[in-house]
Amino acid sequence: MMMMPEFPAAAVDRLVHVADCLALQGWSITESALPAELLGELEHNCRSLWASAALKPAAVGRSGEQLVLPQVRGDHIRWLDDCPPCDATTAYLEAMDRLRETLNRTLFLGLDSFETHYALYPPGAGYQRHVDRFKDNPLRTVSVVLYLNSQWQPGDGGELRLHLPEGCIDVPPRAGTLAVFMSDSLPHEVLQAQRERASLVGWFRRRPDNPLLL
Ligand code: OGA
Ligand code: MN
Repeated sequence: MMMMPEFPAAAVDRLVHVADCLALQGWSITESALPAELLGELEHNCRSLWASAALKPAAVGRSGEQLVLPQVRGDHIRWLDDCPPCDATTAYLEAMDRLRETLNRTLFLGLDSFETHYALYPPGAGYQRHVDRFKDNPLRTVSVVLYLNSQWQPGDGGELRLHLPEGCIDVPPRAGTLAVFMSDSLPHEVLQAQRERASLVGWFRRRPDNPLLL
């Protein structure tokens, strides 16, 4: 018997829509992707970690080198594995797992794990144009960013800029917006934040034995 009682059909449709967009164009943007109460708790977590100096400057890494280069990448992060578990992060991880299953069912990506961290960009910080999969991290397949800025307004900066073949798209980092894109092929950047900008960034990874990797 199918057991999906607590998950409404409309929500399943939205996940399928994300998968369809990913298949057709390599990216998808969804607004109000999670309940406001859950977003509020995740935002509170991220900002409290920042306030208590529990987020650390993120590094950029190529071929074994890990360097903190704030002019390239100015966010401060903490991996979720390294945070005390709570109901909000459990609910977020469950939502990401439903997305992972949907992507596997519709796109046959063989995604088997998820890594994720909180990120906070202080005023002045951004992240220069890059792609998320590089030689050191060949398993990263789908990137997922959930924005946690309930007070975001035009002029606050920190938009996600997607560099598409047909031009750029700027995504405001408003609370509840979920950006999903292919990690190996979509160049993107974070425009300079004018106010503290909070998010959860994650990657679905494929199985190391996936023949599509070879
Ligand atoms: C990243 C990244 C985008 C964003 O952390 O690799 O590109 O909008 N983040 O936070
Ligand atoms: Mn990125």
